[in-house]
Amino acid sequence: MLRVVICKNPDEVGYQASRQVIESMQRTLAKSDRYVLGLPTGETPLPLYGYLIAAFYAGEIDFSAVHTFNLDEYVGLPPNHAQSYRYFMMRNLFDFVNIPVHQTHMPNGLTRDVNQECARYERLIESLGIDLWVLGIGRNEHIAFNEPGSSRESKTRKVKLTLDTIEANARFFESHDQVPTEALSVGISTVLDNSKEIVLMATGLSKAQAIAIALLGPVSGWIPASYLREHEHCTFYLDKLAASNCEQVIGEGVCPEYLEVVYAE
Ligand code: F6R
Repeated sequence: MLRVVICKNPDEVGYQASRQVIESMQRTLAKSDRYVLGLPTGETPLPLYGYLIAAFYAGEIDFSAVHTFNLDEYVGLPPNHAQSYRYFMMRNLFDFVNIPVHQTHMPNGLTRDVNQECARYERLIESLGIDLWVLGIGRNEHIAFNEPGSSRESKTRKVKLTLDTIEANARFFESHDQVPTEALSVGISTVLDNSKEIVLMATGLSKAQAIAIALLGPVSGWIPASYLREHEHCTFYLDKLAASNCEQVIGEGVCPEYLEVVYAE
């Protein structure tokens, strides 16, 4: 059963998702000496990261035993490049909490041996396991950089970004031709088969069609996010705009049986 939480705005999406992450961290760390969190970059998770930093400063959570795995990294960008995902994570989360830097894992986009680097990353994820993986979604329904046509069994590998994704990412670069066209990305299997819980966040009208298709369309590699319906503990946090193409269906009595829809207060 996939849970959908409809929130009034992007800030509420970040807040509600942060409550699930914080409770999962607290619950796990009460009985284990490690918590493993999967993370996305992008615009959508920024409010979530703000709430996690606030919870850290409030003494609610402690990151000293937390390990993180990011979904992806651009090929060819050094970690100190302002658009690398390592730099993004430092600037938006890691610099503000007490996480030891060696516990923050990302694929190395500068590797000379792509196959070996991807195998190393996949093995590390499999050996630690992921307590909770947070995801965003692309306008083309990608999760991580698993673009349409990705296989359910895909693992960490080098991927070519679609024109739509390159165009969406261009907003962060000075010019279009600086946008990397390849990335190292975890696969759909990497996320689905190693995570105890999954949280997907989507905000804004540009995600409305992707969300409607992921929730109501067929489960298929052409709709990578649709595979999340096969996971036992997956929650979508959507703002009103991201839910707007399907809310008339899922918010009414005709909601499919595999969805549980709730409204955040
Ligand atoms: C980022 C990632 C992508 C983004 C997605 C949404 O690490 O893997 O799948 O989550 O492209 O990006 P935003 O949040 O910028 O709309």
